[in-house]
Amino acid sequence: MTRNTVIFGDNLPILRDLPPASVQLIYIDPPFNTGKIQKRTQLKTLRTKTGDRVGFQGRRYATLAIGSRAFSDVFDNYLAFLEPRLVEARRILADNGTLYFHVDYREVHYCKVLLDTLFGRECFLNEIIWAYDYGARQRKKWPTKHDNILVYVKNQTSYIFNEDEIERIPYMAPGLVGPEKAARGKLPTDTWWHTIVPTNGHEKTGYPTQKPLGILKRIVRASSRPGDTVLDFFAGSGTTGEAAYLLDRNFTLIDNNPEALQVMAKRFETYDDTEFVGFDPRPFQRERPQARLLAPVTQGRARQGVGDP
Ligand SMILES: C[S@@+](CC[C@H](N)C(=O)[O-])C[C@H]1O[C@@H](n2cnc3c(N)ncnc32)[C@H](O)[C@@H]1O
Repeated sequence: MTRNTVIFGDNLPILRDLPPASVQLIYIDPPFNTGKIQKRTQLKTLRTKTGDRVGFQGRRYATLAIGSRAFSDVFDNYLAFLEPRLVEARRILADNGTLYFHVDYREVHYCKVLLDTLFGRECFLNEIIWAYDYGARQRKKWPTKHDNILVYVKNQTSYIFNEDEIERIPYMAPGLVGPEKAARGKLPTDTWWHTIVPTNGHEKTGYPTQKPLGILKRIVRASSRPGDTVLDFFAGSGTTGEAAYLLDRNFTLIDNNPEALQVMAKRFETYDDTEFVGFDPRPFQRERPQARLLAPVTQGRARQGVGDP
């Protein structure tokens, strides 16, 4: 059976075809389009035998325009795009599952309100601040150097959180805690210091919005178990897939940009049990030399990465 799937297409109809309660962890990092579209035609998708759109597993859909609506501002527009996808995300999550929603500091408050409505305020677990320190500094305000990651669980009383699996980080003042504690390090808090993807390191894929593997590994390690399935339906360069693979989880990734699929084709070229749906990865892959086949990662490699500055 294929453990990992990469699907090319708009994520909404594909999500609607995924079975309920089938994944333990969802991470998404949706793009924010700066609101050029002020008017949106409302569409309804119907599954038919003759529809003009082909979706997951060859199913056909017809698209019906059911009216248009002017949106008061760009955030409404963005939220209208996200809402049906987040409804599906909640349905697809297993009862012990967790959603990590990665977003920009300008949109996070709107998204928090939407997610509270869909998941319930009681299922809000954390707001993680990913802090980095790179690039030019604004001079007329505090330089903005962080992203926000909202964390929601499906069931507030029973969810996966592997405290013992999370890599520990050095104390800021190890001299104050004694040698034993200092050697063991501490659990990270909800503020994570981590560099952006280094511009010339081997991790860089060339995909413009690629997120660091260290951030994704920490998420996957904390909120899923080996053998679980991790879903990212705004997959981009496939960082979530790489983190899942290295930590012995299965992955399902979706993206509607052919360039993202090309990057993932190359990134996963040595992975076993990985199927591409709606896209032929072979033109973008080298032939598989046996010596380059990746072994599942050792704890040592998995532990690199995140820490206070
Ligand atoms: C910010 S990027 C994700 C980057 C990713 N986290 C990484 O580390 O590379 C967002 C991605 O969502 C994809 N996307 C946008 N709208 C989509 C849709 N309706 N269906 C599927 N993918 C979509 C874009 O093509 C883009 O690759």
